[in-house]
Amino acid sequence: MTSRLLLLSLLFLLFSFSTMNGQPEKTIATVDEPSTADAIKQLNEEKIAELSKQIAGKENQPAESVFKNIKILTGVPAGNVLKIMQFGYSRSLGTSCAHCHVLGQWDKDDKTQKRITRDMSKMDRSIVSDLLQNIEGLEDRKPIINCTTCHRGQLKPALNLDAELVTK
Ligand code: HEC
Ligand code: HEC
Repeated sequence: MTSRLLLLSLLFLLFSFSTMNGQPEKTIATVDEPSTADAIKQLNEEKIAELSKQIAGKENQPAESVFKNIKILTGVPAGNVLKIMQFGYSRSLGTSCAHCHVLGQWDKDDKTQKRITRDMSKMDRSIVSDLLQNIEGLEDRKPIINCTTCHRGQLKPALNLDAELVTK
């Protein structure tokens, strides 16, 4: 009886795998975004390691001469672009490369989130240069903000304090 059940579930598993493989190519090519913190970290580290190998020896060259579609990070050393992707963007937003890129197709602009990021970056710079630096009396003579200032590890910046901060 138990072995029969086992056989049935095996068959079921086989069946689901074969239907997965039978899906149109588009779905296979798009890897789902990882959701747990560990899976996100693992994916990001893996991709950065692959890319670091690909650009080995060119880390100090300007991004636009190493990568194909650089519009905002022009002049930034190519090696730093990878750090910005891993820490500046992914970690600040608590997300993985897959949120903004179809994995491996790094130069394409097909994902909205990648295009939003360029605008966020412009907003960030204009807050600093048009607004913050014109506020008189700030202690810091070069006040700056970055993605983390608002995002703090989340895609949607919070409007309320975390519970633990409220009680302080
Ligand atoms: C929040 C969005 C976002 C995340 C997350 C992100 N990227 Fe990017 N990525 C961008 C944007 C925007 C650009 C284009 C920058 C520009 O125009 O100068 C880019 C460009 C790149 C490029 C250059 C491609 C080329 O040839 O032009 C590579 C490589 C890249 N990203 C890799 C990664 C990797 C690896 C990760 C994960 C560790 C990652 N990105 C995470 C938004 C993101
Ligand atoms: C001044 C605050 C602020 C800064 C700085 C900021 N953002 Fe945002 N960001 C927002 C807000 C607000 C939203 C909209 C959230 C919503 O949908 O309600 C947002 C949304 C986004 C989204 C879309 C979220 C999603 O669900 O996919 C991306 C991507 C993003 N920001 C990337 C960045 C990156 C990368 C930086 C740094 C270059 C950055 N942001 C800096 C406030 C900010």
